[in-house]
Amino acid sequence: MPPVWIMRQAGRYLPEYRRIRARERRFLDLCYSPDLATEISLQPIRRYGLDAAILFADILLLPHALGCKLDFPEGHGPRLSPVRTQGDIDALAPAAAIHNHLAPVYRTIENLRRDLPPATALIGFAGAPWTVATYMIAGRGTPGQEPAHMLIREDQRLFDRLIDHLTDATILYLSEQARAGAEVLKLFDSWAGSLTRSTALFDRYCSRVHRRIFKALRRNFPAVPLIGFPRGAGRRYASYVASTGVDCIALGTDIDATEAARDLQPRACVQGNLDPKFLVSGGAPLIAETRRIVAAFAGGAHVFNLGHGITPDADPDNVRRMIDTIRR
Ligand code: CP3
Repeated sequence: MPPVWIMRQAGRYLPEYRRIRARERRFLDLCYSPDLATEISLQPIRRYGLDAAILFADILLLPHALGCKLDFPEGHGPRLSPVRTQGDIDALAPAAAIHNHLAPVYRTIENLRRDLPPATALIGFAGAPWTVATYMIAGRGTPGQEPAHMLIREDQRLFDRLIDHLTDATILYLSEQARAGAEVLKLFDSWAGSLTRSTALFDRYCSRVHRRIFKALRRNFPAVPLIGFPRGAGRRYASYVASTGVDCIALGTDIDATEAARDLQPRACVQGNLDPKFLVSGGAPLIAETRRIVAAFAGGAHVFNLGHGITPDADPDNVRRMIDTIRR
């Protein structure tokens, strides 16, 4: 029986989350309030008894800590002050200066370690430098991450400086999360898919950057398992696993479970892959798909999860049915 948790398990599909959100109004205030962020992280654990809790926070808190303005206007995606020139990069805070701003996140982790059942794992996380850079450069989410790709074409040295700065800051951020009590660390590269257009791009800005981060974390926290999520890597998941040596590979919906079991599971624990749409529609297809994934990965190390975050229109009862199916 594989352990199970779900991406975005604390979020808008849960009525108890929406109640807190309606009262507090600003998403960022939730992230920076250790008491509220602790309570929200615990909500799906209480409701479902999931095997892991993930810290309630956001990948964009790191650029915020580096001095970018950040807002989540109602009904829109995130908005940041764009970083596009050498002057913009020079204006960012040094990587080592992030901890004051992020102290509430570390407090949340300490609270969670205290309040979680001992057998429930606590997952800390950060966005991978490429994905975070795509938001910083455009100042928002963008189809195909074109503004970031354009900067690579126009001034790759400048782009590399931004990636290096984010890499240093990510290592410090995740290290501090481990020190505060995170037992597993996950790197979210949600937009790795748009790097797969070339082997050179994918290796340089996904695999090599993740490898650098993992190497630094392994040196200081050898007992902390590392999860990499190069979402959309497709046929490049295999080279990612080989070149990063990641402990657990999180899979999007862009790879078949049977192929992943054959090609990836011999080298790493696998996690993920159920399309979150099944949790909206439910019924027999949800049960069949859940069973199919459990069966495909039964021959090796497997953590049950989705291929991407659960959506606000998912039915909380479908989550329960999925979990019951896995545990039966
Ligand atoms: O998984 C969890 O429960 C932990 C918390 C978590 C959040 N965001 C909370 C959140 C995690 C791990 C993230 C990661 C994140 N944030 C990613 C990578 C994973 C992915 O989904 O691809 C990205 C790209 C972001 C950036 C981000 N944050 C966007 C684009 C948005 C707006 C889109 C949306 O869904 O509304 C957010 C907001 C956000 N982050 C919410 C939550 C619960 C919704 C906030 C709200 O309105 O209540």
